[in-house]
Amino acid sequence: MTITFLLNGETVHAQAPDTATLLDWLREGRGLTGTKEGCNEGDCGACTVMVTDEHGPRALNACILFLPQLHGKSVRTVEGLAAPDGSLHPVQKEMVAHHGSQCGFCTPGFVVSMATAHAAGRTDHDDVLAGNLCRCTGYAPIIRAARAAEGAPVPPHLSADLAGPEGVAPPETGAQAPFLPETSDALADWYAANPEATLIAGATDVGLWVTKDLRELAPVAFLNRCADLKEITDQGETLRIGAATPMTDVLAALRPLHPSYAELIRRYGSDQVRNAATIGGNIANGSPIGDNPPALIALGATLHLRQGDARREMPIEDFFLDYGKQDRRPGEFVEAVTLPRSAPALRCYKISKRFDQDISALCGCFNLTVEDDTITRARIAFGGMAGIPKRAAATEAALVGRPWRAETLANAAEALAQDFQPLSDMRASADYRLQAAQGLLPRYFDDLSGRATHVLEVSA
Ligand SMILES: Cc1cc2nc3c(=O)[nH]c(=O)nc-3n(C[C@H](O)[C@H](O)[C@H](O)COP(=O)(O)OP(=O)(O)OC[C@H]3O[C@@H](n4cnc5c(N)ncnc54)[C@H](O)[C@@H]3O)c2cc1C
Ligand code: FES
Ligand code: FES
Repeated sequence: MTITFLLNGETVHAQAPDTATLLDWLREGRGLTGTKEGCNEGDCGACTVMVTDEHGPRALNACILFLPQLHGKSVRTVEGLAAPDGSLHPVQKEMVAHHGSQCGFCTPGFVVSMATAHAAGRTDHDDVLAGNLCRCTGYAPIIRAARAAEGAPVPPHLSADLAGPEGVAPPETGAQAPFLPETSDALADWYAANPEATLIAGATDVGLWVTKDLRELAPVAFLNRCADLKEITDQGETLRIGAATPMTDVLAALRPLHPSYAELIRRYGSDQVRNAATIGGNIANGSPIGDNPPALIALGATLHLRQGDARREMPIEDFFLDYGKQDRRPGEFVEAVTLPRSAPALRCYKISKRFDQDISALCGCFNLTVEDDTITRARIAFGGMAGIPKRAAATEAALVGRPWRAETLANAAEALAQDFQPLSDMRASADYRLQAAQGLLPRYFDDLSGRATHVLEVSA
């Protein structure tokens, strides 16, 4: 199929297989080797590119980005950051001035992330750069360079990316072409007729099936052009989030409503990963270590599924049946999730080896209701403790009806061993998982009692 996008200011029409990655196409097809291949799985940021669409500029990892995801957008690689007359971009100048590069392998990815943040007016440099790994320079000079560039104007050749490419034809819909629907109705009809197809939303999982498992995926449908699947709707008591909403937009919507859940998302992958990964993909893949499901279960969220014209909904915990098995019928897709807008007692704790950009060893989410000093409702869910994200039913039962006291929480921790018999794997041992999960109950009590419990807040 032919994909049209703006590449470093020039409209290109790329002929490519459905699952050609942007990184391979840039390096092998265009000779643009400034974009580096480090991990080829979204972890290191060496392949970062700037992608601009109606939402403005965002950083993405080119190694797990398929060309059809770029149709109609603007892409800028490290080669396109300097102005046409050769003068360096402000972040490039400051990287030189602050000695921000030693071996230089990571540097193209860093400067593209920094230039993207600069174009978007962002100054949260630690979050912006959490997905760019550097082994030689150390982060201090790089952060100094990012700060020094803050006040410089955005170069005009970058602002021009907002206009997008010229002459974008509607995507082809032939039998061999990937399907790029513009609406969820079109997706529903096509998927009901092609139930064996692979849906691709952000490709942060599916990308690795191609780059690491070398899998052939056709037929495929890309969800990223379905604007109605990216809508976030305020419904008064509840918020409805479309399945194809990237985690970056979920984070922005949840920050004022559920700050603890938002803090969990801030540590979900990296900026590049959150700009691609969708909430629907994170639910649909059924991963036992996905970060959204425990939070959504603790909130009592409702999942909306669609197959052709038929729709059904269920409490989200009922979707996860067993390891690798979800309650999803052939040709049925996740359309949205609805969650309460208010849950002041919700707290989410992500336990991982590395603070940033790491998959959870376990993730515990707590949402208790206390009335007249008595716990009257409890919703507690964990990821990483079983083959599916799961409610802690015995622990909840050990809490409801009891007084809101530190001892109540400490005593209920015993019941977690009835709820979960976790596995040992490379992220954590079974013992560690159970003990760490048990430790979250007193932490929750302290947290709600106003004591500092965050690893970045606690001091000896
Ligand atoms: C470097 C890196 C770091 C990561 N860090 C984290 C992390 O910290 N926390 C975390 O939870 N995850 C993490 N992940 C995992 C990943 O981001 C998530 O699982 C992601 O949310 C998947 O969403 P996606 O849109 O990219 O899905 P895709 O890769 O596009 O799809 C995943 C699966 O879901 C299916 N699918 C997608 N959308 C739908 C839909 N609407 N209906 C039905 N099926 C659908 C696809 O067919 C596929 O089977 C990380 C991944 C990477 C590469
Ligand atoms: S090569 Fe490491 S994130 Fe793409
Ligand atoms: S300068 Fe060598 S990896 Fe960053």
